[in-house]
Amino acid sequence: MAGELLSWESEKTRGERSVASGVWPPAGCRWRRSGVPHGSARMLEAPVRSNVRVRRDKQSKGGHAMAKPSILVTRRLPEKVQARIARDYAAEFNDDDHIFTSDELLRRCAGKDAVLPCHSEHFTAEVIDQLPDSVKIIANFSVGVDHVDLEAATRRGIVVTNTPDVLSDATAEIALLLTLGAARRASEGERLVRSGGWKDWSPSFMVGTQVTGKTVGIVGMGRVGQVAAQRFRGFDMQVRYHNRSRLDPAKEQGAVYHPDLDDLLGHCDVVSLHCPATADSRGMVNADRLARMKDGAILVNTARGALIDDDALLEALTSGKFAAAGLDVFNGEPGGDPRYRELENVFLLPHIGSATVDTRNAMGDRALDNLDSFFGGREPGDRVA
Ligand code: 8YV
Repeated sequence: MAGELLSWESEKTRGERSVASGVWPPAGCRWRRSGVPHGSARMLEAPVRSNVRVRRDKQSKGGHAMAKPSILVTRRLPEKVQARIARDYAAEFNDDDHIFTSDELLRRCAGKDAVLPCHSEHFTAEVIDQLPDSVKIIANFSVGVDHVDLEAATRRGIVVTNTPDVLSDATAEIALLLTLGAARRASEGERLVRSGGWKDWSPSFMVGTQVTGKTVGIVGMGRVGQVAAQRFRGFDMQVRYHNRSRLDPAKEQGAVYHPDLDDLLGHCDVVSLHCPATADSRGMVNADRLARMKDGAILVNTARGALIDDDALLEALTSGKFAAAGLDVFNGEPGGDPRYRELENVFLLPHIGSATVDTRNAMGDRALDNLDSFFGGREPGDRVA
């Protein structure tokens, strides 16, 4: 889109300027709100191309038209969030919500000041190296940033932000759902009733594992881990945890700290993963670690599939070592490893940790707060690079 003309008009003036000339940010300066009520900004719609709407906006200040920062929104976001974006930014939306290839992502980034992606877009070093100079910030609609090569972004001077806190409750809910679903054989039972195959009852029918009063090990006691620990306590579970550093007693709330992950595992009936996928944590749930876990243990993952060595977990699930697993995230999403689908003792969900209306709206607002700060010349609150 480099070289494309941007139309603008106010009550008194009308004109065009070249996007390629760098509407934002001109060297050394930052866009600021004009103080003009948002409703007074006139919005112009460029032609629709392949379901991607290109909105060109301007705001007027003292008779001078000011271009709003231009932004690529890679996926369809909640209506309220898209309305806020359309109000405050010159936005290109993805109305049919298709997943961009790297080529399409790069093509659509041309002339943009910012990108608002989800974890479905992979900003590898190769992609980041090819981003146009105009892109100054990647404001993620996610707390996880493993889809973005942060080092490459830093090298290019691109700011990266995420959306912490606002999805902790929703994700912790899913950790509990997975725990109960796996322990009490919920999907197996549900399938039985649905299929009409429920014909009998006996004392040994659908017997599962009780979690009340047992021990849970939280791996990664960050924001989500702490909320999950609180919810597990609701089932009178003893909480142990492994984290890079020990929490202060107010946050620990009696949880037992294990500086060594290997040491934690043997104590737990349920192990719930809540750490980010990084170079250090990828594949950390491997055959050796699974062997250290109690016989009949349950593994729960709401963090990232990359933490788990699938071959090793499948072996633990089929050999009888493990009672069950509850998985919301997978290597190779969407879809995940098809071998899990064959097993009755796995409770599977399609990466819905943050999928509530409240949370998705809050994630959008958080991503936009970061963008507003950046373009307002302030440090974004959730800067990770
Ligand atoms: C989101 C998540 O659905 O925020 C995250 O890191 O894993 C999810 O809950 C997803 O990332 C949105 O991009």
